[in-house]
Parts: sequence; structure tokens; C-alpha cells
Amino acid sequence: MKILAVCGTRPDTVKMAPVVLEIKRHPNDAQLILAVTGQHREMLEQVLRAFHLTPDYDLNIMTARQTLAQITTRALEGLDEVIQKTSPDLVLAQGDTTTTFVASLAAFYNKIPFGHIEAGLRTDNKYDPFPEEINRRLAGVITDLHFAPTDVARDNLLREGVRAEDIFVTGNTVIDALLNIAAQPHEFDDAKIRAAAQSGRMILLTAHRRENWGEPMKHICEAVRRIIAENPDVTVVFPVHKNPIVRDVVFPELGSTDRVLLIEPPDYVPFVHLMKSAHIVLTDSGGVQEEAPSLGKPVLVLRKTTERPEGVYAGSAKLVGTDIQTIVGETQRLLQNQSTYDMMAQIKNPYGDGRAAERIWEIIRSRFSD
Ligand code: UD1
Repeated sequence: MKILAVCGTRPDTVKMAPVVLEIKRHPNDAQLILAVTGQHREMLEQVLRAFHLTPDYDLNIMTARQTLAQITTRALEGLDEVIQKTSPDLVLAQGDTTTTFVASLAAFYNKIPFGHIEAGLRTDNKYDPFPEEINRRLAGVITDLHFAPTDVARDNLLREGVRAEDIFVTGNTVIDALLNIAAQPHEFDDAKIRAAAQSGRMILLTAHRRENWGEPMKHICEAVRRIIAENPDVTVVFPVHKNPIVRDVVFPELGSTDRVLLIEPPDYVPFVHLMKSAHIVLTDSGGVQEEAPSLGKPVLVLRKTTERPEGVYAGSAKLVGTDIQTIVGETQRLLQNQSTYDMMAQIKNPYGDGRAAERIWEIIRSRFSD
């Protein structure tokens, strides 16, 4: 059988990589074709490098300050052509990016079955996260094989009327990727980062979401300044997303604050090791919410809603939004109160056991050998 795997941004590529590598281990059963839209450029390439992947097709669609409509139309035309050229038996995509939704649509237009990895995540709020909630719901309507990471995700799909026999709880492939990379030794090149990482009091911060552009991002920056002022032993490491809309706020706000290290988005390998060395993680990212608890790090989520409530239910993550006082207060609690910290840090990660890709491959194989 022929499987076309599609990805295009940093997170969907990290989470697709274990599945691509697993399918490639069975060349007698399946041919794997990897197509990337190039919705991200630099941030995509570094992930491909980390997993030693070379795409068979690269649509290279990214432009500076691209709009959602531009990503959608350019990726749709490109993927339609790739599907016609390669005639796959199955198209696979991961998650909730615009690349994911477009991959499902292109598969549908060509009447090719579609498999959705990380299916069933929901906030049930149309605009939060924007446009991801609708991207994943639209992909879900088209999907034939739903690979749900957790029972919560499966229940969301059942509630929407998806047939139980089309849903498979596999765990999240992000844990497969993480365990693979975290096991590799790493030393940071930059002396300041090395020192922060070894201090035991480093806070790792990431923020890029559309809902947080503008004022909320300024609030996050102000909260960081206050945390730094109140804790002379704390350093904040902030990899700043490549998007100029994010950079235009973050650099002026935090560029000259002592003990705040604004760095380029690191490659995936050093990023995983930054998470491993962090004391606390502040983030609005989806994937980081899943990864940090696996590494025993408390996560404060800089959003109002999350489609990943498992970490919040389990107690390893807390939703804090972007209110300055709340961010500062919750961070201070973790910095000052060891038992609160230990309670969050010691919780078992609810997102997977590192074998999700293996399960996904087995399900595909048995479905297509019928
Ligand atoms: C995208 C996904 C989001 C995911 C995020 C992870 C969509 C609509 N959004 O958001 O779900 O959480 O990726 O990062 O699918 N840029 C570069 N180089 C890069 C990457 C981005 O210069 O390697 C800049 C470009 O100016 C680009 C901008 O970032 O126009 C925004 O990229 P885009 O993919 O539209 O949105 P993200 O915010 O990255």
C-alpha cells in the first residue's frame, strides 16, 4: 500500500515524525511518501533534520505575514497535485494546523481515505484556539480513521456521532518523539543558557498563539518582568517564535531585561533539553503542555481554554490565562512552595507511553489487509 503523510509546521512535523519512521520500518508492507507544505520554513527544516527526514514533495508555500486564506489555497492546490501524481491508498495528517485541515480536504476531493492523528481534541469554542478548533473539527468530519490520543478525545468524537469502530485510542505520538530525543545526550552551545539550565531555577517560556497577539502578549511580558524582579535567582529563557507579529511585541518589551534570554527558536533537540532543564514551564503551546509533564515539569498554561484537559485534571498543568497578577501569583506559588511544586511535578503524564506510532501502524496495516 501507498501512504501519503502530510505535515507543514513545527508541531505537526514533530508529531508526524514517529509515524513516518515507523511506517518506513516496514518497506515490504507499505511505501511512505512524505509531503510537506512548507507552511513553516526554518522551523520545519530543523524538525526534519532532528528526525533525519527528507520530504519527497515540498510545496514551499510560506510567505512573510501569510494569511490563513493564503496558506489554505496554496497548500490545497499543491496537495491536490501531489495526490493526483502519487495516487495514495491513504492520506495521513496530524493535529489542527491549517496544513492538517487542507490535507483532509485534498484527500476528500480525490476520494482517498484520510487518517487523522491526534483526533478528537476540542475546546468547543469556535474561536479559541483560532483557527485550530475549526481546523481539527473540519478534518474530523472528513476522517475515516481517527487516532485519538486519550479517552477524553475518544469521548469527544463519540459525542459528535463518530462510529466507535473508526476510533482508536493510541496515546499521543508527541511522547514517542520526546522519549527518542530526550534520551540523546546534549550540551547547550551558549554559556548563558548552560548556566541558566544548571541553576535549577530556570523558567522556560513560549508564546505565539493568535489569541495572544497584541495586548495579551504584552501582559505576559509584564508578568515576566515582575517575576524576574521578585526572584533574583531566576532566569527566564524565551525562544521567540519566527512570526514578526510576535517579535514586534516581545523584543521591545523584554529585549533589555536582565536575566531574560530571548533566543531564536532552538532546534527540536536543544528545545527538549531546555524543557528537561527547566524548573517551571510557561506556555501557550499545545505540544509543550503534553511534553513537559512527561519530563516532570509543572506547566502553567497561558490560555483561557485548553483542548488538553488531561494534564489539568491530573494536576500537572494549570490554566492561568494572560492576566498579569494570575501569572505572577501562580508562578510565585511554585517558586516559593516546595510541596505545591512537588505535587505538580510528580504526577504521571497522561498523554502516552511512547508507543503510539507503533499502534497507529498496526491499525493501518490491519484495516488495509482486510
Ligand atoms: C502555526 C499553526 C499553529 C501552530 C504553530 C506552531 C496554523 C494556522 N497555525 O502557527 O496551529 O501552533 O504553527 O508554531 O496552522 N515564520 C517564519 N519562519 C518559520 C515559521 C514561521 O518566518 O519557520 C513566520 C512567517 O512570517 C509566517 C508567520 O511566522 O508568516 C506565521 O506562520 P503561520 O504558520 O501562519 O502561523 P503560526 O503562528 O506559526
